[in-house]
Amino acid sequence: MGTTKNFFETYLKKETLFLDKSVLQSSYTPDTIPHREEQTKQVAEILAPALKMELPSNLFIYGKTGTGKTLVIKHITSQLIEITRPQQVVLQALYTNCKLKRVADTEYRFIAELCRTMGKTVPPTGLPTDEVYKIFLRTIDDTKQIIILILDEIDHLINKAGDEVLYNLLRLNAELSKCRISIIGISNDVQFIDYIDPRIRSSLSEEEIVFPPYNALQIQHILRDRAEKAFKKGSLNDGVVEKCAAYAAREHGDARRALDLLRVAGELAEREGLPNVSVKHIDLAEDKIERDRLVDIVTTQPQQFQAVLYSSINVCAERGDVSTGEVYDFYKKLCSHIGIRPLTQRRVSDVIAELDMLGIINARVISKGRYGRTKEISVSGTNQEKILVVLKEGLGLK
Ligand SMILES: Nc1ncnc2c1ncn2[C@@H]1O[C@H](COP(=O)(O)OP(=O)(O)OP(=O)(O)O)[C@@H](O)[C@H]1O
Ligand SMILES: [Mg+2]
Repeated sequence: MGTTKNFFETYLKKETLFLDKSVLQSSYTPDTIPHREEQTKQVAEILAPALKMELPSNLFIYGKTGTGKTLVIKHITSQLIEITRPQQVVLQALYTNCKLKRVADTEYRFIAELCRTMGKTVPPTGLPTDEVYKIFLRTIDDTKQIIILILDEIDHLINKAGDEVLYNLLRLNAELSKCRISIIGISNDVQFIDYIDPRIRSSLSEEEIVFPPYNALQIQHILRDRAEKAFKKGSLNDGVVEKCAAYAAREHGDARRALDLLRVAGELAEREGLPNVSVKHIDLAEDKIERDRLVDIVTTQPQQFQAVLYSSINVCAERGDVSTGEVYDFYKKLCSHIGIRPLTQRRVSDVIAELDMLGIINARVISKGRYGRTKEISVSGTNQEKILVVLKEGLGLK
């Protein structure tokens, strides 16, 4: 008891590097959004007719992760609402993130969620879906108003609930008399729009705006703005912001990744009791974030996936690059050891391909001439120990 108390007391007395760490968290909304001026202007132009009670075109926004899509749309719609408040115009922006809280798992759940955002409660199951639509329509149609319905991470809605939902939502105006709805879909899956029904595509994409990735210099700029508010003056050594930006721009310019790196680097430096963040902390932060990401993924995989991964890591540790057959032999023994029914080799091969897509293992298809093709599997990275701990726990191994 005493030692914990001492620890907390010393902790409280310790100097901190941060002025306000929340500035680096994703819930924080910056006052200005540099390098998105063009996109902001385009979105504003599309939505502006709402100020005169004219229905804005539907809009589809896409761009890779961390390119400011959610930030920009929330910023613009909140300004739009603010400006209409003193006027006669009734305008609402309904924002839903289709990835969160499994709201988009089924059409029923999704429409029920929309009702909830309008202040109407609908039982979680039990009504016919048509009835839930009716409740939603009745609720919004009681006033003359424009509703901007923002479907963020819309690809999740379509993947889970099917494209029928979107089709129905896009046709709602036909059933409304006073209210009008316009829809903004946002996705970081750039191919998503190519896979949906062309009729849906053409009505959702009356307008389309792409958010390109930031380049390293733009990310530096974004980071500097936020670091100034987040850290005490002089806490960041030379080169820290540059390195963060370079790492975040390596695959594609992802501002979220850059902010996460900087925050975690700050936390690591602080934990060491240092007054400054140095370049070394960015590397440590990168490792930690990657490790946490992998652990998260691995923890949520089904047990069969965990068994295949555990087998791959073990066989690779013994023999380097290995074939699916070698992993399969180990896997079968593992299954009988822990008492689960083994999948077929064909299915295990599919699981390996999925693990490859998640970036947890590397699988390369190689040709063996007339003996056909096989996968060559390797596991890389410094994070295996941590993953093995998670896997052993998941599989109930000692
Ligand atoms: N131009 C910018 N200026 C300041 N901060 C930014 C800028 N662009 C993005 N950010 C910040 O980066 C993080 C990610 O931005 P945002 O959530 O808008 O990305 P996104 O494009 O919606 O990504 P995803 O597709 O993963 O949802 C947020 O913390 C946001 O505040
Ligand atoms: Mg987003």
